[in-house]
Amino acid sequence: MRAIWANLLALLFLCTCACVLYFWSRLEKRLERHKRDFQEQGPYLGPSSDLSAKTFRALLAVPAAEKLYFASRIHIHNVTGAETVSTGNGNNVLVKVNHLKSIDPEVRRGPDITEAVEDGIFWSQNLEDRLSVGFSEKHARSWRRRARGSRVVSLEAGCGRTSNQLATFSDGTKACVRYGINADQVQGETLSYYLGCLLGITNIPPLVLAQLNVDGERWASVRSRIASLQWSRGEVVSLTEWIANLTGVVTPAPLRQDSERLHPLLEDLRRKTKAELLALMQWSDLLIFDYLTANFDRLASNLFSLQWDPRVMERDTSNLLQTPRGALVFIDNEAGLVHGYRVLDMWERHHSAILRSVCLFRRRTAQRVIDLHLDRDARTRLLELYRDNEPLAAHLGFLSDEHARILQDRIERVYKHILHCKGKYSQ
Ligand SMILES: Nc1ncnc2c1ncn2[C@@H]1O[C@H](COP(=O)(O)OP(=O)(O)OP(=O)(O)O)[C@@H](O)[C@H]1O
Ligand SMILES: [Mg+2]
Repeated sequence: MRAIWANLLALLFLCTCACVLYFWSRLEKRLERHKRDFQEQGPYLGPSSDLSAKTFRALLAVPAAEKLYFASRIHIHNVTGAETVSTGNGNNVLVKVNHLKSIDPEVRRGPDITEAVEDGIFWSQNLEDRLSVGFSEKHARSWRRRARGSRVVSLEAGCGRTSNQLATFSDGTKACVRYGINADQVQGETLSYYLGCLLGITNIPPLVLAQLNVDGERWASVRSRIASLQWSRGEVVSLTEWIANLTGVVTPAPLRQDSERLHPLLEDLRRKTKAELLALMQWSDLLIFDYLTANFDRLASNLFSLQWDPRVMERDTSNLLQTPRGALVFIDNEAGLVHGYRVLDMWERHHSAILRSVCLFRRRTAQRVIDLHLDRDARTRLLELYRDNEPLAAHLGFLSDEHARILQDRIERVYKHILHCKGKYSQ
């Protein structure tokens, strides 16, 4: 009997142990699963959270870097930074700014692009900061003062055609003197220079006008040279600062054909080096400048020549040079504004194609174009700047009313083109 009781007790003990083990293992499994869920869903999803796991995962899917990018991009925009833009005729154009494009997966893969372009169509401040200033206003003012007060001690070849001479001043500095075959050329050169100043484009060497008063002290040393060049007494010539060590510039690949373009396209820009981007930035100014002045004697003439000279784009671009540090120097602007406007019919097709080819702008240049369009005062502002800085302005004369109108119209076209690009690339 005793043996029976002992066996029953042992059986009861074994059953109790089995039950304890069973409950323990279930408990362990539940704890394990709970821990796994917690790790998968993140530390913020507590049992009381009313967010579904799906929503929460969707939130987690936005990488931290992107969230930071969003946060840093919240600021006010006009076409160079605001949301509405007046068209100047009382209408307001809503320029949609949607930064979702900025977080396109393509953009995320190449952080370099977010550094190169801002607000869809502008070269970034980052790149602007790396570009040398060029001929600053201060430098230009001081050079002009010195050039006006200096005697010319020699005139020699070194500035292109014989009608252009390399002048050396008594202090040893040099300038290119341009004697126009007709007044259009000197006017075109001079007014293009001042339009560049108005737009804030600093790639054009400073310029002064001078009258060939050969009996005066300023030209006394080169009187016989002037006679041999058959330059007329009393004629007005332009003098531009001569820059040492300039070399030629080949048109960059994105602009070598009518059909090619300088647009904020990621796949194109991502392949560029910083130096190439800095060059393209300056080209974007050059293209706007040449469109406004209708200067055909640079890229437009090259595109024209492509018809019979397919390799023209592999050679240096006319009337464009660069410093050893890559700053572009726009020389010989005499075809601009006056002569260029006279022959617009012949060249406009190329000018328009070039304008269409650019949808990336320097913010300052774009803003100046916008201001000149909205205020519709290009003629007044150009004339004021020219008169205030050039004592011979009255002598040389200014744009005709018709040409001033053409300039204002071209400013409007560039303005509309900027809006078009903004619409296309900032959405
Ligand atoms: N400001 C300058 N500083 C340094 N060199 C200059 C300058 N202006 C002109 N030159 C030199 O003179 C060359 C011709 O200049 P420019 O285009 O003004 O004259 P051009 O008579 O029109 O010549 P081309 O017919 O070759 O264009 C330039 O390629 C350059 O070598
Ligand atoms: Mg030239």
